[in-house]
Amino acid sequence: METSALARRLAARFVAGDTWADGLEAGRRINREGIAVTFDRLGESVTSLAEAEASRDEYMRVLAEISDHHLDANVSIKLTQFGMDTSEQACRANVEQLVRRARDLNSFVRIDMESSEYTERTLRLVSDMHAQYKTVGTVIQAYLRRSEKDIEMLCRQSIRARLCKGAYLEPAEVAFQEKSEVDRNFVHLMRILLAAGTYPAIATHDEKIIQEAKDFVNARNFSRDGFEFQMLYGIRRDLQRRLVAEGYRLRLYVPFGKAWYPYFMRRLAERPANVLFLARNLLRG
Ligand code: FDA
Repeated sequence: METSALARRLAARFVAGDTWADGLEAGRRINREGIAVTFDRLGESVTSLAEAEASRDEYMRVLAEISDHHLDANVSIKLTQFGMDTSEQACRANVEQLVRRARDLNSFVRIDMESSEYTERTLRLVSDMHAQYKTVGTVIQAYLRRSEKDIEMLCRQSIRARLCKGAYLEPAEVAFQEKSEVDRNFVHLMRILLAAGTYPAIATHDEKIIQEAKDFVNARNFSRDGFEFQMLYGIRRDLQRRLVAEGYRLRLYVPFGKAWYPYFMRRLAERPANVLFLARNLLRG
């Protein structure tokens, strides 16, 4: 898939390009619209420590370039890209280097949340890194039954959380299965975060939920600078522009790199219309 010209063209809707130069160009363009960025250098689930170190070094370079080019941006990483499947200890050492660099550059590292087998380890690592460096936060998935407890822990420790619905296939023992349950839990957790979180990020393209967030903060006269909305590159540009015009903070998640297949497949799975879009284009091609 990753080498097929047609598939690349389709993935281009969700991915800024193959190289850091593409990411940088997208970041500049997005910043000019008054929107902040978090860069995702694609390439999860590496199988060797050499690959994990290469990912770390790429991210170190991205942090340096963000600073050199004065971008309003930070980075999002996945622990399986930093070696978690091979050695938790090595993974921690890799993440620590990046988080320390982020502290030195006055930047920030967001640790994305992967499938539920990583939740506990991710939170433990984030909590330890935060105690030492501060410049790190993570993600909470509203579909997980455990998330309220996790949010309370993050709030207590003043760790920045991004709230999203959750993008992996999870069994009923750990995750709500109905969309209505996930949405209800999202709103519940969002209120906790907006009221007690440290600069929370509300990451969704769901207009109803975004309206709920606005109503909640406006009813309490909360500052619009105390939180941010986040969306994915290429999704709901109309909604993105509207939020910015209304004076809300918005950050786009901008993936770049050659290893876009798993990211692309999650975006397809989220929306049946995307699969139709892909099928139509494949037939045309
Ligand atoms: P929902 O899926 O209900 O979609 C609401 C509306 O948004 C749709 O009706 C449609 O208009 C639009 N939309 C949503 N997805 C679309 C798509 N793929 N293509 C086109 N339109 C689409 N997940 C995770 O497990 N770990 C993580 O670390 C992160 N990180 C993350 C960062 C940021 C900034 C965002 C926005 C999202 C994530 N996610 C994530 C993904 C998240 O869990 C979720 O899968 C997607 O955001 C889609 O869910 P929505 O909240 O948009 O709602």
